[in-house]
Amino acid sequence: MKRVTTLLAILGFVFICMESCYYDVEEELYPSTNCDTLNVSYANTVFSILETQCLNCHNNANSGILGAGIDLEGYTQLKTYVDNGKFLSSITHDGNASFMPKSANNRKLPDCDIAQITAWINAGAPNN
Ligand code: HEC
Repeated sequence: MKRVTTLLAILGFVFICMESCYYDVEEELYPSTNCDTLNVSYANTVFSILETQCLNCHNNANSGILGAGIDLEGYTQLKTYVDNGKFLSSITHDGNASFMPKSANNRKLPDCDIAQITAWINAGAPNN
């Protein structure tokens, strides 16, 4: 009987721990709720993601120093890496390119950014 009591006490404790560690993050539960993947364009969507996440290393002026010579500033420059698959691989972390954006903890772009870039590439990566 003592064993049963101990077991129940342990189970209760585990249950309380699990309850208290439970949390809801809306973004994680409903990742696509506010993510517009229909109206994506190079100028308004892709460039602004690059500007905040990538161009400090991969811009025209500094890519030789910080971005290993990979210049992603401008449609033509970016298109090279769209066409060879490295751009998408680098942000999806599929293993076919280095993980980007470069960071110590292999941080990934927000899901919505990845979804929008994927949608743009699937649409033929138009320059508009
Ligand atoms: C802190 C600087 C830095 C940032 C920010 C950064 N990169 Fe890079 N990136 C590098 C360096 C350095 C390399 C070359 C070394 C390597 O492959 O890891 C590289 C390589 C790449 C490559 C070639 C990968 C390959 O395997 O051939 C691509 C594509 C790329 N980056 C895209 C991006 C994109 C897209 C972003 C933003 C989401 C980004 N990078 C953000 C520094 C950066």
